[in-house]
Amino acid sequence: MDFTISTQEAYLSNYRASVEQPEQFWEEIAHHYSWMKPWENVLDFDMKDARFTWFQHGKLNITVNAIDRHLEARGKKTALLFEPNDPNEEAQHITYNELSERVNKLSNVLKGIGIQKGDRVCIYLPMIPELAVSVLACARIGAIHSVVFAGFSSSAVAARIQDSACKIVITSDGGYRGNKSIELKKIVDEALVNCPSVQNTLIFKRTGDPIEMKDGFDLDASTLLKEAKDICTPEIMDSEDPLFILYTSGSTGKPKGMVHTTGGYMVYTGYTFKNVFQYQEEDIFWCTADIGWITGHSYLLYGALLNGATTVMFEGIPSYPDFGRFWKVIDKHKITHLYTAPTAIRSLAKESIDWVNSHDLSSLKILGSVGEPINEEAWHWYDTHIGKGKCPIVDTWWQTETGGILISPIPNVTVTKPTYATLPLPGVQPVLMNEQSQPIEGNGVTGNLCLQFPWPSIARTIWEDHQRYKDTYFSTYPGYYFTGDGALRDETGYYRITGRVDDIVIVSGHNLGTAPIEDAINEHPAVAESALVGFPHDIKGNALYGFIILKDNAIQENEDQLRKEINQHISEHIGPIAKLDKMQFVSGLPKTRSGKIMRRILRKIAEGDFSNFGDISTLLNPDVVEDIVSGKCS
Ligand code: WT7
Repeated sequence: MDFTISTQEAYLSNYRASVEQPEQFWEEIAHHYSWMKPWENVLDFDMKDARFTWFQHGKLNITVNAIDRHLEARGKKTALLFEPNDPNEEAQHITYNELSERVNKLSNVLKGIGIQKGDRVCIYLPMIPELAVSVLACARIGAIHSVVFAGFSSSAVAARIQDSACKIVITSDGGYRGNKSIELKKIVDEALVNCPSVQNTLIFKRTGDPIEMKDGFDLDASTLLKEAKDICTPEIMDSEDPLFILYTSGSTGKPKGMVHTTGGYMVYTGYTFKNVFQYQEEDIFWCTADIGWITGHSYLLYGALLNGATTVMFEGIPSYPDFGRFWKVIDKHKITHLYTAPTAIRSLAKESIDWVNSHDLSSLKILGSVGEPINEEAWHWYDTHIGKGKCPIVDTWWQTETGGILISPIPNVTVTKPTYATLPLPGVQPVLMNEQSQPIEGNGVTGNLCLQFPWPSIARTIWEDHQRYKDTYFSTYPGYYFTGDGALRDETGYYRITGRVDDIVIVSGHNLGTAPIEDAINEHPAVAESALVGFPHDIKGNALYGFIILKDNAIQENEDQLRKEINQHISEHIGPIAKLDKMQFVSGLPKTRSGKIMRRILRKIAEGDFSNFGDISTLLNPDVVEDIVSGKCS
């Protein structure tokens, strides 16, 4: 079995082999990596109990595969290409040799502080090279990294640190984002008031802003690095040892710590990076996602480095210092692959096309989209104006839980179709379920998207809550992994993901559970209860609409002030990304007799569709619907 698929016949035969003889298929793929000890058994699994073991008893270290293995042939090749927020600050080309040295040194620093295999390390850093180095250093010594996106608030950081009892937090004085700077150390200080497990922080310098350093607790990274040795023997990891935890929102207020393990994650991300991006040795790959999200973990970092690629890390935002920034970066570094989110595409498509046309984009070969459904208009704009009609677009569907891309075209192999993620990659067996929880046969159908067979990078559990893992993903359709997405399979068997069918709303490509935001709103002293739903938004894909019941005595005179306060409250509890676009103060919420909020009614109201609410006779309080409609906010 070839590692790279480059023809349609190869795709079909690989796919067939992966379904008919999955163990043999993945075993051959796994042989392309370096293992310290081979596995004894390729796969053991139980879909009912949600237990998965891939490459059992195999021993490895992912950093040997992502770094050491390349040093001989690619030591002087750029591994990380860092493009700073400020276009006048020089870009950094960090070679594989330099990356190796930096990772080894930091590994020794962490060990010196007492971090051991299995300890959890929270990484709260801006998009600077130290973020990539920190992640890899953890992997080298077998510590479990838990990267928290640097846009999260102190209480969100605290909740994540507490959940997995992190021993240390790696952060920086601050970070830049467009014309703003964020005081990360201060946010960490606030978070740590409630985090007894943390024994130290390790502080990198980015902004140079003054920070308070607590003696013996806050450690200066540069001082320790100066004395660190540059060789650190990689920890011998079992294939099923956890590599990292990454939190994602869920249908309760508590974030879900998705656990990914070492062997299967490595095999799958390296394989899919190579094939989905048809990566070639001289390519310059740019994934615009932050390493704080799974896309950054799997494709900016691990997948790219496993293939010995040059991967771009961009610290800034698409609109700073102007709307030409993305295109300028592509021109400047002769980027061959751009992998970004539909929300970024839509926000740039609404600006003058001159921003695009004043740059040379001829280096581009392949474009990628991820994080939410891409609408037809955005797809065509991307294809025409960025790809100039010659770059295949890979619309890649996957999730934090899946670890890697599951449904996607393979460029120059799969014929693309706007808004379609198209076909499953080898090893991926999608199924659509009907309302009777039965798999739907045939084509030209819609249903709830499930997977009927494990792939190597499936999340293994939710940190210390296997029951919740089972309940969330494996109980709706026993024997299947349920994705939470709805999908359509067209006449030719192509998949189109239509969106979430649960209480998660994707806003600007960010996966937001409505429950944690509702919890934050409800903590405001004037609020009695709230319900959130998504509604379509031109740029963000979806935006949030909150229906809020105020307490009896809450003064409603200054509604604007209250709206501001509620959004402020959300910013503090979760982060600015979770703010509401619309808020309506209501007298009640439509509830069933069992007390469940009927969100489908609220969704219709939020969309501005009052025509047909369906059967509302089961509501405890049908009158409330009319009240809400008449008071709808514009
Ligand atoms: C949800 C997962 C893994 C990428 C980053 C998001 C939606 C993701 C697509 C796509 C339509 C998509 C789904 C999925 N989604 N990619 N190409 N087309 N929808 O990871 O935060 O775990 O969110 O993002 O709804 O379930 P995530």
